[in-house]
Amino acid sequence: MKNMVTKITVLLCALLCFTANAKKFENLALTPQMGWNSWNNFDCDVNEDMIKEMADAMVATGMRDAGYQYINIDDCWHGERDENGFIQESKEHFPSGMKALADYVHSKGLKLGIYSDAGTKTCAGRAGSRGYEYQDALTYARWGIDYLKYDWCATENVNPIGAYTLMRDALYSAGRPILFSICEWGDNKPWEWAKDIGHSWRTTGDIYPCWSCEKKQGSWSSWGVLPILDMQNKLRKYAGPGHWNDMDMMEVGNGMSYHEDRAHFSIWAMLASPLIAGNDLRNMSKQTREILTNKDIIALNQDKLGIQAMKFIDDGDIEIWVKALDGGEWAFMFLNRSDNKTTYNYDWQFNIYKDDLFGHYVDFNKNKFNWRNLWEKGTGTTAKKLKIDLPAHGVQVLRLTPVK
Ligand code: GLA
Repeated sequence: MKNMVTKITVLLCALLCFTANAKKFENLALTPQMGWNSWNNFDCDVNEDMIKEMADAMVATGMRDAGYQYINIDDCWHGERDENGFIQESKEHFPSGMKALADYVHSKGLKLGIYSDAGTKTCAGRAGSRGYEYQDALTYARWGIDYLKYDWCATENVNPIGAYTLMRDALYSAGRPILFSICEWGDNKPWEWAKDIGHSWRTTGDIYPCWSCEKKQGSWSSWGVLPILDMQNKLRKYAGPGHWNDMDMMEVGNGMSYHEDRAHFSIWAMLASPLIAGNDLRNMSKQTREILTNKDIIALNQDKLGIQAMKFIDDGDIEIWVKALDGGEWAFMFLNRSDNKTTYNYDWQFNIYKDDLFGHYVDFNKNKFNWRNLWEKGTGTTAKKLKIDLPAHGVQVLRLTPVK
């Protein structure tokens, strides 16, 4: 008996000591994570064949080579908990099991993500992780999962910092590096407390594939591209390598116009948001594929400084956003919010760019740059005034390289 008590004490201590040291897995998102997620296009209609096809398509379309890594299953993959409380996948939709699916996705050089919720139920009413955090984290690790999106439905009276820390610790204890994507829609200002808990946090409610609409969903709203952009105001100081403001999964290829999609993708890239595609990768148009695999735009997002772009000039319908890049380079995004195309004149030498938050500064009177248009392939120099065509609901993005 005494022996037994000693063993239990040692075990408990080991568990507590380990938990006390628990932290988030470092180095999983030194640049914003890139991947695909099922929700925006498929809602609850997920199954193993579709997920495998999506992994195949990510390779065949060149997306993997462009940097996308994660294939993420959102809500509704769940079956029931077993008699010991372990969560199981839906046997109907994932008959081969989640482990086999993870093996398949890994065999393609990709990673598998899954979804759960800090409350008793997920947003679509499946089993949430509340009270089962350690068991669920262990299950995901055993399955070979690489990414967890953790939602915030059915969490009445739950403390968000506690709930997300608990799951972070559970993941850490399970021992498999799993990227932890916090999804509580910005309700509790996660940017103020989640840096050491998750690798990214949603800053807003759900996205909707429109340019500037608010789509009422009963007690809540989903949002178009511009409202989500405007909600990022004052958040850039919280983002950086390993901890990102997440503007939600993208809607590129889900019904907006070509220029809206191009702008949407550029905005997400410039603001260092995770780039998680939300369309059907198996059936995308050439234009959609070209947008999602524009390596020049992706390179802005993946720049190793990890500085979120700043709104530099607000000229009504036209905004200029600037992102400082590694090696003294810069990205300038000219955004036309309006319904009309226009030609915009810009004198580089008129304004000094100054970013006090991250200590970047440029005076185009003193420093000369060559620029390259990352969508339309033109080139030029900051020694000359810029005259640039901006499509309605569209952008042009220039990358500036110092002239030595
Ligand atoms: C919430 C999330 C969405 C999606 C759904 C799934 O609304 O914000 O991104 O995960 O739940 O039910």
